[in-house]
Amino acid sequence: MTHFLDIHTTSAEDLRRMINSAHAMKAARNGRPKGTPDDDQPLKGRMVALIFEKPSTRTRVSFDVGVRQMGGETMVLSGKEMQLGHGETIADTARVLSRYVDLIMIRTFEEATLQEMAEYATVPVINGLTNRTHPCQIMADVMTYEEHRGPIAGKKVVWCGDGNNVCASFLHAAGQFGFDFTFTGPQTLDPEADWLGFARSKGVSVQVERDPAKAMAGADLVVTDTWVSMHDPESAKERRHNQLRAYQVNEALMAQAKPDALFMHCLPAHRNDEVTSAVMDGPNSVVFDEAENRLHAQKAVMRWCLGL
Ligand code: CP
Repeated sequence: MTHFLDIHTTSAEDLRRMINSAHAMKAARNGRPKGTPDDDQPLKGRMVALIFEKPSTRTRVSFDVGVRQMGGETMVLSGKEMQLGHGETIADTARVLSRYVDLIMIRTFEEATLQEMAEYATVPVINGLTNRTHPCQIMADVMTYEEHRGPIAGKKVVWCGDGNNVCASFLHAAGQFGFDFTFTGPQTLDPEADWLGFARSKGVSVQVERDPAKAMAGADLVVTDTWVSMHDPESAKERRHNQLRAYQVNEALMAQAKPDALFMHCLPAHRNDEVTSAVMDGPNSVVFDEAENRLHAQKAVMRWCLGL
């Protein structure tokens, strides 16, 4: 069974194949209307379940549109409305869904839920975000960087703010795609040591720098994310804002990076908290290309999972 659960558990060769496939599928659409099918219809006759235990705009719409463009059909399911949300085990849910559908994408809270779904499903499972990782997002981010600037290998990526689940997948990607990574943020929000260790184990430079201006020196790509993630309690909001205010990505901070450094944010953004509108709407920002590329990257992930 070919699941797409995380970037560090997928081979670097397969990840590269998926990125190449995503570029090719995007180019093949050649600006045609979004609702029209691809020439190639590898998902024809296939059904994909999209399970959401947390809110989503991009993941939900991009997977749904991607499946349809490739000729398949989708079933969007809310965790709360399923028996899953009322005590049915994840293992039984996985076994049952595998009798109906060809592929399962799940956005959930605990990584253990994703792992159990993958263990018991007899169809491929895709990680659409957990509290610990967001691999589909980072596949789109790598694709977006390379679309604008060429190979990401050897470049310097600076993550600014909270060492959260998106940061984790970026660290995994640093190891697998061979780029250097600097985290800048408060010590209490450092990425987990395992994530840093994975990237280091692959031979790339991984730095932790408390001073955001120093961190930016030589940056090819600057990335941030919301200061309060979906799984953080509302009570954490004020404390998080106080801790992270110095790490806001604004024009002054971007000026410390290379002049052609790109800016990314997986969205949704809280404008004028983690990033100013001047940066988000500025000439170096590629945030909406990133959002679009969720569609193309995930189409490649689905094809890889199904061997198509
Ligand atoms: N970036 C991202 O995963 O967006 P959604 O939460 O809207 O799916």
